[in-house]
Amino acid sequence: MSVRDLVDPFGRTIRDLRISVTDRCNFRCTYCMPAEGMVWLPKSDILTFEEIERLARIFVGRYGVDGIRLTGGEPTVRAHLSVLVEKLSRIVVPADSPSPLAGRPIDLALTTNGATLVNCVDELRAAGLGRINISLDTLDRARFEHMTRRDELDRVLAGIDAAVGAGFSSVKINAVVERGVNDDEILALADFGRAKGVEVRFIEFMPLDAEGHWVNDKVVSQDEIVSRIAEKHPLESVPARGAAPADRWRYLDGAGTVGVIPSVTKPFCGDCDRVRLTADGQFRTCLFATTEFDLRALIRSGADDDGLAAEIERAVGTKWAGHQINQVNFVRPKRTMSQIGG
Ligand code: GTP
Ligand code: 5AD
Ligand code: SF4
Repeated sequence: MSVRDLVDPFGRTIRDLRISVTDRCNFRCTYCMPAEGMVWLPKSDILTFEEIERLARIFVGRYGVDGIRLTGGEPTVRAHLSVLVEKLSRIVVPADSPSPLAGRPIDLALTTNGATLVNCVDELRAAGLGRINISLDTLDRARFEHMTRRDELDRVLAGIDAAVGAGFSSVKINAVVERGVNDDEILALADFGRAKGVEVRFIEFMPLDAEGHWVNDKVVSQDEIVSRIAEKHPLESVPARGAAPADRWRYLDGAGTVGVIPSVTKPFCGDCDRVRLTADGQFRTCLFATTEFDLRALIRSGADDDGLAAEIERAVGTKWAGHQINQVNFVRPKRTMSQIGG
């Protein structure tokens, strides 16, 4: 079977699949989850590794998808995650794919809060994980505990060091910036990235927090973030973001790069090449989508690969132009970030 591009109604080609492997998390970040009261999905609702692998093989084998990112909740709290990584790392991009990875293994990545990495990062690397992004919003212990509701800063810092030492092709830090909470640490976090030799990506706070306390005033814009860093460390823009959500800058003194993910002030929906699978097998064509397509029900009712592919194509045919965070008709998705998978 030859590879066909999955193209949405706005002409965007789908290349990237984000798979949430669990809705559970060992943190309770204030910009994501409530302190208490999250109701977890029952285990029987969660896709098995075999179900995930089957869907992943359809996306890669039939369409031009060449990158898969595992997310959560916190993906490393899913038992035996490295077994799934091993299965997915064996998936090869078809030789006739337009992808630069044609004939090679997919680009397999993980987004994690870092708290468990000391224990599992070498196993994940050995299982074939290629890249890793780790969240770190503050370097201050008390503030870390306030923001994540867990006193785990030291474990995350050790996890970052373990990831840097594990031989990934890329380790990046994600820092959500919230005005009045951690925006005074933009420079300190940038300096941390420079010292460690990792790219820090600052993320504009998005209205996906469980408690609904997002307001526009809490968003620190990309322009403000970049100018605060550039005051101390002169920067030049790195051209060509492509479909990646981050805009990037290079430090003129050669100390690496820094990024900003400007979801609110400069939405990048026009270049979006992403689709998502939730832990319970619901297919979403946008982070902010309000409709989902139930691939789990299809799989468990015995659908063959053609049936699953037809539903995937039907869903992609409904992908909208983009979120409308700054407009009056913006509707928050019912699920929180932790339930969608970032
Ligand atoms: P790379 O492949 O390393 O560039 O990964 P990534 O930045 O796509 O993934 P990551 O999981 O590290 O996400 C970083 C931030 O980008 C998170 O806050 C995500 O929620 C946000 N993000 C990822 N995909 C989307 C998207 O489709 N739309 C919006 N608005 N934000 C996204
Ligand atoms: N706004 C922006 N980013 C968020 N993340 C979680 N909640 C939000 C939010 N409301 C980020 C995490 C992690 C990624 C998966 O999503 O910090 O980097
Ligand atoms: Fe957990 Fe990530 Fe949500 Fe924090 S942002 S509570 S680490 S899922």
